[in-house]
Amino acid sequence: MSPVVVLVGPPGSGKSTIAALLSQRLGVPHRDTDADIEATAGKPISDIFVDEGEPHFRSLERAAIVAALQGAGEVLSLGGGAILDADTRADLAGHTVVFLDVSLAEATKRVGLSVARPLLLGNVRTQLRNLMEARRPLYGEVAKLTVLTDHKTPDEVADEIQEHL
Ligand code: S3P
Repeated sequence: MSPVVVLVGPPGSGKSTIAALLSQRLGVPHRDTDADIEATAGKPISDIFVDEGEPHFRSLERAAIVAALQGAGEVLSLGGGAILDADTRADLAGHTVVFLDVSLAEATKRVGLSVARPLLLGNVRTQLRNLMEARRPLYGEVAKLTVLTDHKTPDEVADEIQEHL
């Protein structure tokens, strides 16, 4: 039993968009662990971070991933930090995992961080850059396929993934 494909990548890599498109094309459900966590907790991820802290979120995320990997015939998208957990990385070994790669410049645009106000947003961009650099090897470790999403339409990215399914 396995998801058809599991999408990983940093915030702004297009996981939700590509997962929705693939699920439509393949005629299978789209499952997203962030959505599962929000449904279980009854509040948005941002509130979980503020109210209970990141370690609590990560434990909810781990449980959501264990449950989701038992599902069959779904397109599964994981939160950007899912691969931080060594057990999750080990669990992903048997699955068709696609790393949606993206440049910092493109991710910055997609998550809505304007480059026009460096004093306000410079720190956030630096954090995103640090996070992407630290995680890149971990995405690479779990991925069977890496697709660079810069300068590609969602259809082009989905075509590339489907060629490998
Ligand atoms: C996170 C990414 C988010 C969400 C949470 C933590 C991360 O998902 O899981 O805010 O650590 O990168 P997206 O990658 O869908 O934004």
